[in-house]
Amino acid sequence: MVIQLNTVIPLGRTFDEYVRMFDLTQQDLNKSILSVADGPASFNAEGTKLGFKIKSVDPLYKFSSTQIKSRFDQVVDNIIKQVEETPKDWVWTYHKSSHKLRKNREKAINVFCQDYEQGQVESRYEIGELPQLKYLDCEYELGLSSHFLFLYSEQFDQDFHLNSIKEMLRVCQELRIFPLLTLKNKRSPYLEFITEKLEKQGHNCQIKKVSYQLQAGGNEMLKITKNS
Ligand SMILES: C[S@@+](CC[C@H](N)C(=O)[O-])C[C@H]1O[C@@H](n2cnc3c(N)ncnc32)[C@H](O)[C@@H]1O
Repeated sequence: MVIQLNTVIPLGRTFDEYVRMFDLTQQDLNKSILSVADGPASFNAEGTKLGFKIKSVDPLYKFSSTQIKSRFDQVVDNIIKQVEETPKDWVWTYHKSSHKLRKNREKAINVFCQDYEQGQVESRYEIGELPQLKYLDCEYELGLSSHFLFLYSEQFDQDFHLNSIKEMLRVCQELRIFPLLTLKNKRSPYLEFITEKLEKQGHNCQIKKVSYQLQAGGNEMLKITKNS
């Protein structure tokens, strides 16, 4: 699918949010990490500064940082307004308020934009799109998917999810996905089918509670360890 900038909502999360969403320990962070659908998150920029080895993949990376930031500026007011109009859908233990949520999203995209050109030179940001990845079998120790798989269950069907997860497992020893909810704050209808299918193939699937929540009820992460 060819990605159009005017259909993308380029909102990114920070390194601290990634650590909490994926329950990342120092040992996890020391692994080679492939973060798919990474968008304008500052996980790579901040993590690289701390000495970690992270590659981000997203179809969005065919655009320049100026284009990505101007799309963010176009949509952010409306997104925050939608959040404020649906108070029951959100939990403020982490972000505290919609105003601070906006500040965190601005911080993430600004740090991302400052790092983006250098990161492209270093091949830390690469254009790519599920359900196919160009990497070798087992090239990465840990694969992450934040706010893409399961969240967009209405836009991407069950086959897309299964094929994407299998592809990430081809490339990564272990895979973590957050959240398990759709945009309507319901558990993805594909979760059970996919975990059952993967377990039958000998992979280990665990749903873990994590110390991050913004969508009400969205504090669970799926950890899949590959059958090697
Ligand atoms: C909501 S953003 C999440 C960004 C980041 N992971 C985070 O949590 O801050 C979803 C991202 O999925 C990307 N995306 C859309 N289709 C994709 C595909 N087929 N494969 C990989 N990424 C895709 C979009 O470009 C966008 O950057």
